[in-house]
Order: sequence, then C-alpha cells, then structure tokens
Amino acid sequence: MADLQTLLAECAATVDKTMDLLLPQPDDAEALLFEAMRYSCTAGGKRLRPFLVMQSAALFRVDKRCAARVASAVEFMHTYSLIHDDLPAMDNADTRRGRPSCHKQFDEATAILAGDALQALAFEVLAAPETHADPAVRIELVRELSQAAGGHGMCGGQMIDLLAERDGEMNIGAITRLQRLKTGEMFAFSSVAGAILGKGSYRSYMALHNFAQEFGLAFQIADDLLDAEGDPEKTGKPVGQDAAAGKATFVSILGAERARAQAHLLIDQAVHALEVFDEAADPLREAARYVVDRTN
Ligand code: IPE
Ligand code: IPE
Ligand code: MG
Ligand code: MG
Ligand code: MG
Repeated sequence: MADLQTLLAECAATVDKTMDLLLPQPDDAEALLFEAMRYSCTAGGKRLRPFLVMQSAALFRVDKRCAARVASAVEFMHTYSLIHDDLPAMDNADTRRGRPSCHKQFDEATAILAGDALQALAFEVLAAPETHADPAVRIELVRELSQAAGGHGMCGGQMIDLLAERDGEMNIGAITRLQRLKTGEMFAFSSVAGAILGKGSYRSYMALHNFAQEFGLAFQIADDLLDAEGDPEKTGKPVGQDAAAGKATFVSILGAERARAQAHLLIDQAVHALEVFDEAADPLREAARYVVDRTN
C-alpha cells in the first residue's frame, strides 16, 4: 500500500471536493449561515472519519462517488459536533482547527444554527438517491448515523462528558462508556458504512464495528493526552482545558503513561478485529497505529 499520509491526503482532497459541491453557496438572505457552515468545514481537520468510510467502502468495491457522499455526511455531522462543543455553554474554546472557533468568527447564535444546519445536511445527503440506488441501504445509513449521533451516541456522550466535569471521581468503567458514546459511535458508523453500502456479510460488518469501537476509544485517549501535553500550534485548539475544568478522563485517572499504554493495547485489539480481511484492510490497520501516536 501507499504511505498512510499520502492516502490520508488523497482521501481529504476527494472528500473536500465533494463537501464543497454539497454545501450551499452563500446567497440570499441566509448567506451568513452558509458562510459559517463553509468556514468550519473548510478549516482543515484530519478527515479521519471520512478516511474510515472510504477505506471500508473500498473493501466492498463500492463506487467511490457514493462513498465520498457518505464520507461527507459524516464530516458534516462531526463538524457540527465540534462547533457546538466549542460554544461557551460547553467547552468555551476560542480556537478550532487552527482558526477562531465558529462562534468567535461569527457569533453564538450563528454558530448554533450552522451546527444545526450541518446536521440536517448530513441526513439530506444520505437520503438522496445519488448516495445509493437501493432505498433500503439509504434508510439503513440514515438510521445508523442517527443512532451514532443521538442520545445513545455522540450527544449522550457529550452529556455525560459535561457531568464528568462535576464528578472528577468517575471510575474507568464510566469513562469508557462516556468515550465510547462521545467518540466511538461516530467512528463505528464511519467504519461500518462501507459494509452497509456494499451489502457486506454480518461477519464483516461486525469485524468493522469491533475495530472501530477500540479505535475510537484509543483515539479519544490520544485526544485527552494531547489536551494534557500537546502543542496548540499543532492541534489547532486550546490545551489544558480538561484539567482546568477538573474533568475525569483516562489521563486524570491513570496518568499519562498508563493511559498511553492502554491506548496502544486498544489498538492491538482493533487490529486483531480486522483478521477477517486480507491486506486490502492494511490502510485501516495503519490508521489505527497512527491515531495513538499523532501530534494533531
Ligand atoms: C476532535 O476530533 C473531537 C474528538 C472527538 C476528540 P478530531 O481530532 O478528529 O478533529 P478534526 O476533525 O481533525 O479537527
Ligand atoms: C468532543 O470531545 C467530542 C465531540 C463529540 C465533539 P472534546 O471536547 O475532547 O473534543 P476537543 O478536544 O474539543 O476536540
Ligand atoms: Mg468537549
Ligand atoms: Mg472540546
Ligand atoms: Mg479533547
């Protein structure tokens, strides 16, 4: 396979182009809303969830244009979650992806609306016939993304995350559940999307699901490590916020060294889950190794 960084850059270019086509152009009275949506979507970002969508779709030889639409929908949903996560009522973060966060560049009300509209756009894209010829597949995508992003997924995880700031004594089991919901479910959707699009077997669907659960947890531990000891020039967002808020994380409970070891262990398990696939899944294996040692 080509070098992972090359594959990530190629995927980002493809998905960025598709997102640009799918995002409304600023005109009419609501132009400011579309400007804010575009501002946050085009600020860079690692595009890791789109990468998982594109790579899992490649395992089932799914048409790349269909996969890029699903990858864009996931990134719209993710970007909405970041815009809302940065709001004063949540993490109150002034920077994101190396730029002023959406509410700093625009204002709070515009940022809330930009997030809302990006979430709606994600579902609109999945439901459109261009995403898959079979309506049953499109409904399955809509259903799974709504579960991943909803009350028993990302939003539920964000709720527990806010509570974790008030309860610095949370145990590892509770934090694991928090992270699985907050971060893991969106990675899980991204990884199984290829199997849904390509009508893969239950076995391959579950392999990708299990891979993503471990991947997502390791990814969030790495994010918490970056908050504790990362470089804001590289991460493009503030550091030290978790500790300042007294938030319970793997890092606050285990310490940085054990948290890092735990993340590596999870990645071994993630790679193990992909056993059912041949070398076509190597980019997923490489991505898993990369996420725990990343600096951004
Ligand atoms: C940040 O996600 C939010 C978390 C779930 C920790 P990413 O680290 O993937 O952010 P971008 O998309 O690269 O900006
Ligand atoms: C937020 O987690 C994850 C989301 C669902 C947006 P964090 O609050 O740790 O994410 P960052 O560190 O601000 O990117
Ligand atoms: Mg947060
Ligand atoms: Mg945050
Ligand atoms: Mg964080």
